[in-house]
Amino acid sequence: MSSLATEHDLYNYRVVRQFAIMTVVWGIVGMTVGVLIAAQLAFPVLNFDIPWLSYGRLRPLHTNAVIFAFGGCALMGTGFYVVQRTCKARVISDALAAFVFWGWQLVILLAAITLPLGLTTSKEYAELEWPIDILITLVWVAFAIVFFGTIAKRKVSHIFVANWFYGALIIGVAILHIFNSLAIPVSAFKSYSIYSGSVDAMMQWWYGHNAVGFFLTAGFLGIMYYFVPKQADRPIYSYRLSIVHFWALIAIYVWAGPHHLHYTSLPDWAQSVGMAMSLILLAPSWGGMINGIMTLSGAWDKLRTDPILKFLIVALSFYGMSTFEGPMLSIKTVNALSHNTDWTVGHVHSGALGWVAMVSIGAIYHLIPILYGRKQGQMYSVRLINLHFWLSTIGTVFYIASMWVNGLMQGLMWRATNIDGTLTYSFAESVEASYAGYYVRAFGGLIFLVGMFIMAYNVWMTMTTTRIKDEVDAEATPLTELEAQPS
Ligand code: HEM
Ligand code: HEM
Repeated sequence: MSSLATEHDLYNYRVVRQFAIMTVVWGIVGMTVGVLIAAQLAFPVLNFDIPWLSYGRLRPLHTNAVIFAFGGCALMGTGFYVVQRTCKARVISDALAAFVFWGWQLVILLAAITLPLGLTTSKEYAELEWPIDILITLVWVAFAIVFFGTIAKRKVSHIFVANWFYGALIIGVAILHIFNSLAIPVSAFKSYSIYSGSVDAMMQWWYGHNAVGFFLTAGFLGIMYYFVPKQADRPIYSYRLSIVHFWALIAIYVWAGPHHLHYTSLPDWAQSVGMAMSLILLAPSWGGMINGIMTLSGAWDKLRTDPILKFLIVALSFYGMSTFEGPMLSIKTVNALSHNTDWTVGHVHSGALGWVAMVSIGAIYHLIPILYGRKQGQMYSVRLINLHFWLSTIGTVFYIASMWVNGLMQGLMWRATNIDGTLTYSFAESVEASYAGYYVRAFGGLIFLVGMFIMAYNVWMTMTTTRIKDEVDAEATPLTELEAQPS
């Protein structure tokens, strides 16, 4: 390849572009369903008495769409980009990479059809029935082959740390998905888990919690480790810290699942192990946050002018907040108050909106101009990115603050007793008192969603106003210059 060859010739950007666009599309779809179910809790009439539009069926549609469609596309797209760039090698197979993209879109489509129809295993975050589970396994194995195959043929000796996190995502989720989904099919649309009773509950929350650990955390830390240094144009604060907190995170996350099962029939010692491990988890989690935020040391001024960096750094702040809140919620006495209340839902969304969504949005804004042949940072409108940033931040704050208030209030109302030992409040009274919070949450979600539409417009304008490819190639970064970059 001549030295004039560009990154567009060297790397498979097509699959990255496809995933990047679908991240925005599925983000809008998943969050629209989120706003709808938030509105249903505030205005139950919005269930319309139609089964497939009812809250119970749309809730899993929301969680699957935002986690696996929006989050999944962000992870796979950035994963393919990062592994190619940092290994200075093209993906080992364009065909297999295309299979990963189309296979994953098919999984999402099947989820969008089957969940509203009420077809579900009823295991949270693992609701999809067995034929779709098999398809997920095939796509995931293909993802693993492309990813690790590309690492194997890398042209640089070291493996950049972001790849460690993507690798943990791929291996971790494969193990979780396969073991939690083991089931006996009784028809094309129905299966029964091979586990039962407490063992089933433990498997499910070993899966559920590690889906948080490996999907919603490790993968997005992979995004952080590439895009924060790139966007800030600084090396990572501490490479050593990244390795230490990586291994600590992996080693500790897998033990924390029982904190979802406090005060259940799970043996008490297992609950206590879950609690202890969750408390320890604060340290490696904050290791990641500190490493990301401190990458800006010496360049803090960039935060004033660069809204993409604002997205990435505020995401890290929410990551720090939710990984402080999580260990607190895992303390049994705290959990006795918070469990089953909206506090949990607030915690979820400070991680989901504040961390997962915002770090993904920042990465996509970084990527789109590059993928469409512009220079880094040349989105159609930087002012619109700034507007989006404020809508996302304010929307998230409305969401989580209202759920804190609701959660604490519900927990306190449920445990309030009169002198004679009877309950002070009926359950219905606590629901009635929660309405104010539900209005605020729906409003916050709506603000966040408006930001996503603004993003879609900005991305569309960036794509469609790009110059033709030949012109792009002549101006794109020459390979020699690329190779001089640290990562
Ligand atoms: C516009 C943005 C969003 C809105 C309005 C929204 C709204 C909601 C609502 C109303 C629920 C049900 C809460 C309940 O059962 O009481 C929920 C659950 C959930 N959402 Fe969202 N959501 C949004 C974005 C997201 C994103 C981006 C993610 C993940 C990346 C996410 C992940 C989840 C999860 C994991 C649950 C289940 C929580 C649990 O079981 O405790 N959401 N969401
Ligand atoms: C050190 C890190 C963390 C710890 C120790 C932790 C701990 C907890 C605890 C104790 C609960 C409540 C369980 C219950 O009462 O049912 C919970 C729920 C949850 N957390 Fe975290 N959390 C952490 C970080 C995160 C992050 C970063 C995210 C998202 C990106 C997240 C997503 C969730 C979800 C989705 C649930 C709800 C599960 C459900 O009931 O459906 N957590 N977490």
